Amino acid sequence: MSDRYLEFTHSAFGRQLASMMGLPSPPHLRRAVGGYSEQPLESRATLIGGAPNAQWGEAVLAALSGMGADLYVAPEHNGLAPIKFAATKLGVTLKGEPSGERFVPQAFVFDASGVDSASALRTIYDFLQPRISRLAAHGRVLVLSRAPRELSAVGERTAASALRGFVRSLGKEIGRKGATANLVEVGNDGQNNLAGVLRFFLSEHSAFVTGQTLVLGAGGAPLSQFGQSLFGKRALVTGAARGIGASIAQTLAREGAQVIGMDRPQEEGALGESMSRIGGRGLALDVTAADAAERIVSECGPLDVVVHNAGVTRDKMLRNMAPHLWDMVLDINLGAIVRINERLLQDGLADGARLVCISSIGGIAGNAGQTNYGATKAGIIGYAEALAPELARRGGAINAVAPGFIETQMTAAMPLVNREVGRRLNSLSQGGLPIDIAEAVTFFASPLSTGVNGQTLRVCGQNFVGA
Ligand SMILES: NC(=O)c1ccc[n+]([C@@H]2O[C@H](COP(=O)([O-])OP(=O)(O)OC[C@H]3O[C@@H](n4cnc5c(N)ncnc54)[C@H](O)[C@@H]3O)[C@@H](O)[C@H]2O)c1
Repeated sequence: MSDRYLEFTHSAFGRQLASMMGLPSPPHLRRAVGGYSEQPLESRATLIGGAPNAQWGEAVLAALSGMGADLYVAPEHNGLAPIKFAATKLGVTLKGEPSGERFVPQAFVFDASGVDSASALRTIYDFLQPRISRLAAHGRVLVLSRAPRELSAVGERTAASALRGFVRSLGKEIGRKGATANLVEVGNDGQNNLAGVLRFFLSEHSAFVTGQTLVLGAGGAPLSQFGQSLFGKRALVTGAARGIGASIAQTLAREGAQVIGMDRPQEEGALGESMSRIGGRGLALDVTAADAAERIVSECGPLDVVVHNAGVTRDKMLRNMAPHLWDMVLDINLGAIVRINERLLQDGLADGARLVCISSIGGIAGNAGQTNYGATKAGIIGYAEALAPELARRGGAINAVAPGFIETQMTAAMPLVNREVGRRLNSLSQGGLPIDIAEAVTFFASPLSTGVNGQTLRVCGQNFVGA
């Protein structure tokens, strides 16, 4: 459904009226056109900074130069030494930051790995404070820090945790121009996996992701190819007849996957249309059917990617919720996922398989009238954490995506006032599109996210409810 207010504020009269009344003017987000390219940052000015004792200069510069970025450093910056050292070692050219207002960086990347105390946090302030207003519209701020849970020194852990609050707050400051700020917490040896993660966060593939933290671990082979990274992979998407599921199917196919879309038998027609658009195959099957898991294994063969997207709401205050509404939501949104995965884990998955589940900010913040839905979507978050070690043993991963307000049939059915509040209360002042969720799912399904396991990424424009 279209966002009429957003379009109105982009007319001359609408812009003036919104400004006079102090109302938000949501930016038109810049989303990726087509799949991942080898050099998504080609010729884009990217200013790099870091703590004086930062550790990941080489990995960061290798990743950014591989993405085609135009790399700049600030000559007076106190964290310059490790960056220059890495650049010399790699033979990467760094340009000095031009003075004056005309230099408009598309991205700031800050290596905060050496920030080890409260006072050392001053280094990120010194780097970003004088420059942040020059960040381009739709620009990116990406901070890299060490993962707090792996730090035992009190000062180090405190400082690394502080960066989460810094990024969350900055996301709220820069969202009005469509820019985002995110944090990647790098665990031991996780820096070797930065190339894929940087591609996601610094490109238009993450347009609706801001204020978020992702932990990056070690493992996996270095990537040599970023486009068509799912070529030849077999992917199952549940609830693929429409909405977010149809978009996920399309985006996985865009990256080369052979998609099998599954939906309820009564949606067979819509499913057929959705699959014929992408050369995929339809499987008319209810996720809660007694033979669902068995049929998936026998009809889909070993799967490289499984996306558990099918989900329903049946909202009622708990005092009015009939048992069938509780049971139905719990079974479709959670029970079926657990059952299907149990069977797939026996002999239905290819080595290195990626599982992605769809959660919701409703599972993080909770909503009155959604005790059933909220329970399932919070359950998904714990489920992904719990199953992660098992998937890691198989060389794969399981992660979850928690959408915020997304423009689909589900949200079009909301009462007008709730809908308007829901879509406006985030740092980007608008609802997301199904493609925003599909991009995050595709990132988790592909080798770009190698090193990320057991996590939940909110794709919500930094919705103001929940953390
Ligand atoms: N739209 C949002 O704003 C939003 C926000 C947070 C989370 N989500 C989650 O995203 C997912 C997709 O949501 P959507 O907005 O596209 O919903 P939607 O209602 O538009 O589409 C859901 C699809 O799942 C299918 N489905 C439902 N029950 C099924 C079953 N038993 N077996 C097989 N297929 C079944 C439906 O037929 C439909 O095609 C859901 O898990 C939802 O909870 C959506």
